[in-house]
Amino acid sequence: MRYNQIPNSLFIKNRKRFISKMKHNTIAILTSNDVKHNNADDVMGFTQNNDLFYLSGIDQEESILVLYPDAIKEEHRAILFVKETNEHIKIWDGEKLTKAQATEVSGIERVEWVNDFETYLQYMAFEADGFYLGHNEHIKRVTRDQETRQDRMIAWCKQKYPLHEYYRAAKITRDLRQIKSEEEIALIQKAADISVAGFKRVLEACKPHIYEYELEAELTYNLVKSGATRHAFKPIVASGANACALHYNTNDDVCKDGDMILLDFGVCYANYNSDTTRCIPVSGRFSDRQKQVYTSVLHCLKEGSQLLKPGMVHADYEKNMAVLIEAELIKLGLLDARDVARQDPKQPLYKKYFMHGTAHHIGLDVHDVGPYRTIEPGMIFTCEPGIYIMEEGIGCRLENDYLITEEGNINLTQDMPIEIEDIEALMNN
Ligand code: GLY
Ligand code: MN
Ligand code: MN
Repeated sequence: MRYNQIPNSLFIKNRKRFISKMKHNTIAILTSNDVKHNNADDVMGFTQNNDLFYLSGIDQEESILVLYPDAIKEEHRAILFVKETNEHIKIWDGEKLTKAQATEVSGIERVEWVNDFETYLQYMAFEADGFYLGHNEHIKRVTRDQETRQDRMIAWCKQKYPLHEYYRAAKITRDLRQIKSEEEIALIQKAADISVAGFKRVLEACKPHIYEYELEAELTYNLVKSGATRHAFKPIVASGANACALHYNTNDDVCKDGDMILLDFGVCYANYNSDTTRCIPVSGRFSDRQKQVYTSVLHCLKEGSQLLKPGMVHADYEKNMAVLIEAELIKLGLLDARDVARQDPKQPLYKKYFMHGTAHHIGLDVHDVGPYRTIEPGMIFTCEPGIYIMEEGIGCRLENDYLITEEGNINLTQDMPIEIEDIEALMNN
């Protein structure tokens, strides 16, 4: 792995918490993700299943974790299955985890080869009353139409053991994963710090007529050089009106003098993510109108982020943010106060210029798991208000990542320049 090995105490702790929520005499089975293939013999890459990673730290394909805490025999209580290497794999792909390395990474004493999974499961299956299986329960999941390794495990297990009870592992992990531990906070901070350095490179490189993808290249160079795994998501480098398309990411346009560029980018380090957005002027100086819009969004970020604190209900937070943005849209002359006063509350006028949510959990997933329960210490949220004015070719969003504390929150991305004067100074030095 490129990243420094994570202390296995994190995964031991995570398994303890997970096991404490399992029903009596049940077995949990978590699988890795598939490697995604291109058309012929190349692969798009591998992203580990986050629940498996959370419980084991194993970052290798074809891995399975089995937990059976109430097993009579101690050797059945936790087994990690990993892929057995051979001469062919060694020659073409290089090293795979040895059993000893898998133990070192995960803290699990018993490691077996994945080809023996079915045989070993059989030894304990009939002693147990039920299975916990992993599944993608993300509210915005995009795996609905694609069969995943988890889907195949569910189908196989139900066919093989039809009379057992079945339970959802994701219901447990989504509760646990919302509260970050010290080790996880440090990893997200590391991802955020790499993002800060990437943004500073962008500020130095930006000039009129540069292509958006050239700025993307600065981010990519920086994160690879820093030992990060990948972009947290395909970065958005959107100049001028491109910034009004919320998920624009072709990044193939030229940055015109006088335009503003929206950069929404994140770093994935050791499978933990940052997610930040900044807007910069192509020329190094914001126009008066860009300054007005930027100042409004920055005001909403500063005010809105203070609402991210223990006890706040997510839906109320979003309502408060909408009120903040609405007031700024009136100030900017985009909405009329009298029209707002008599608007249909089901179709508020601000939605024309501000059409997305402004806070999501961040962690192993960029849009991390979790029902939006009341905000608690240890959660990490983004705050990302925006104003998009298609008719003026201006799209502005600003996004930071906040760790919730007993007292309020800490901005993990505070070192990323955001004040207009600071951005202009850095672009013109
Ligand atoms: N980049 C995705 C988001 O900001 O939520
Ligand atoms: Mn975000
Ligand atoms: Mn973002």
